[in-house]
Amino acid sequence: MPSRLPSPARSHAHTAAARLLDWYDRHARALPWRVGPADRRAGIRPDPYHVWLSEVMLQQTQVATVGEYYRRFLARWPTVADLAAAPADEVLKAWAGLGYYSRARNLKKCAEAVALAHGGRFPQTAAGLRQLPGIGDYTAAAVAAIAFDEAVAVIDGNVERVVARLNAIDTPPARARLAIRAGATAMLPPARFGDFAQALMDLGATVCTPRRPSCRQCPLNAECAARAGGTPEAYPVRQERDARPLRRGAAFVAIDAGGAVLLRRRPTHGLLGGMAAVPTSDWTARADGATGIEAAPFAAPWLPAGGVRHVFTHFALELEVWRARLDRRPAAEGWWSAPDALAGEALPSVMRKVIEAAIPGATKRATPA
Ligand code: ADE
Repeated sequence: MPSRLPSPARSHAHTAAARLLDWYDRHARALPWRVGPADRRAGIRPDPYHVWLSEVMLQQTQVATVGEYYRRFLARWPTVADLAAAPADEVLKAWAGLGYYSRARNLKKCAEAVALAHGGRFPQTAAGLRQLPGIGDYTAAAVAAIAFDEAVAVIDGNVERVVARLNAIDTPPARARLAIRAGATAMLPPARFGDFAQALMDLGATVCTPRRPSCRQCPLNAECAARAGGTPEAYPVRQERDARPLRRGAAFVAIDAGGAVLLRRRPTHGLLGGMAAVPTSDWTARADGATGIEAAPFAAPWLPAGGVRHVFTHFALELEVWRARLDRRPAAEGWWSAPDALAGEALPSVMRKVIEAAIPGATKRATPA
């Protein structure tokens, strides 16, 4: 009579997690913030500061973009205490271009909390990390697993997709959080939690991709319910989404005789809070209101310089761009940023686009510090 072992006696060697970890041992991406599987086996531990910094940067931002910012931050602020002591303005400036600027403000607050209230050491559990300012469920779990090998599931967009496919979860992820967490938790191996978390992320990023997943290369293809059903790409099931509302406005690039551009600081709170910007109209979805040349900050020979479209999380923005060359600087709120200073300003991406529309190349002359 064929014997089947009851599942508790099944050895880890045959589980999905074991196959995924084997795959990770061979295919882990070399990433600037990562201690790879071979180094981890040799006893090298990741620095929690590095893990935390990279995880905050990686939220909403591509791996390829983050590398350079990550290196620059660490060169400038090698420890969490250095970052805690940095002027908030400088941190914001170094963040410019990564988007979602509240992350930069929270980064600084979190560094201060770790440096001042925790003696420069990060708490070692997800629950402890979750208490820090700006650390949500994802970051707490990621740092706990990767830096401290806590047995927690780490669920980002990539992992959500992998788990939704493995289990053919037929509800959109926003309404299937519990099922996805349960699926991810059920897969946890008996050890190597940091490697496991990163293995799932890498699988999602390189094999179990949103379009055209490489199922033949997947170490989990034998147990993937979505693949068995023949339509892995149909998962995760998409949420019907309202089209993003459109807002419109105008932006004004005033250029003095020396080529300096007039900039203003945006209010500290709200979208792009505390960042540098050229004068603009309000950005509004309404048909009335001044959203064109009538919103110019002062009289000048304004000429049209095209338009810019930028997509924020909750709305798309279309800006008319106007440019004026001025013989004399008018009295105006803000400061004049000289051509060699412009690239180093804390300019959000939308403002870089606006200035580039008016003065091609202007924001690229120097690498920001
Ligand atoms: N995306 C977010 N965090 C990551 C990590 N630690 N490794 C790979 N991809 C990631």
